[in-house]
Amino acid sequence: MNLIAPSLLAADFSNLQREMEWFNRSEADWLHLDVMDGVFVPNISFGFPVLQHVARLTDKPLDVHLMIVEPQKFVSEVRDLGAAIMNVHQEACVHLHRTVQQIHEAGMKAAVTLNPSTPISTLEDIICDVDVVMLMTVNPGFGAQKFIEHSLDKVRRLREMIIRTGSKALIEVDGGVNRTTAPLLAKAGVDVYVAGSALFGKPDPAEEVRQLKKLIDNV
Ligand code: DX5
Ligand code: ZN
Repeated sequence: MNLIAPSLLAADFSNLQREMEWFNRSEADWLHLDVMDGVFVPNISFGFPVLQHVARLTDKPLDVHLMIVEPQKFVSEVRDLGAAIMNVHQEACVHLHRTVQQIHEAGMKAAVTLNPSTPISTLEDIICDVDVVMLMTVNPGFGAQKFIEHSLDKVRRLREMIIRTGSKALIEVDGGVNRTTAPLLAKAGVDVYVAGSALFGKPDPAEEVRQLKKLIDNV
């Protein structure tokens, strides 16, 4: 599967309506929304009051990436946005299995994210219960950072784990995705590509989505 998820973090926050207009008419598949708390990551982005407005501006699936401590406290807030995917960090969840269950009970798909230094072996006993595994391909907290090359090997090993266990999880990547790194990631076995600075702020972001899709579809 080859899905593109533009990350709103890179948007012009003074004109979200305009940003959502190109997003809606583009070939983009999901809208990736980065919530940060200044504790789990060294930055603060936007919270639920902002997302409630954004959610009304699109019918495409929302992928809510919670870079916060204790994300399990916000399952109902994310559900109330109408989100399709609730995305929590492995490092932030002491009882990850319970949190995944709660996300499913709320009617959403469960995505579990790993920081660059967290080994994929930490997911061995939950890989068959999650819908998406997202690998951070930069350290979370900021957009427009340099892609961590080691991630390619990590994607390959995650793909092997998914095949070996019979898991149905999709592989998503977040950080430093652009026209150079996307084909390499496609070759390694990625399904969902989050991209912020490679799309927003460009003269024609919808065309950037199309080009990115073409590149990964051709791998
Ligand atoms: C980083 C966020 C990303 C970010 C990616 O912590 O999770 O979603 O927006 O930005 P780019 O694509 O610019 O690396
Ligand atoms: Zn993200």
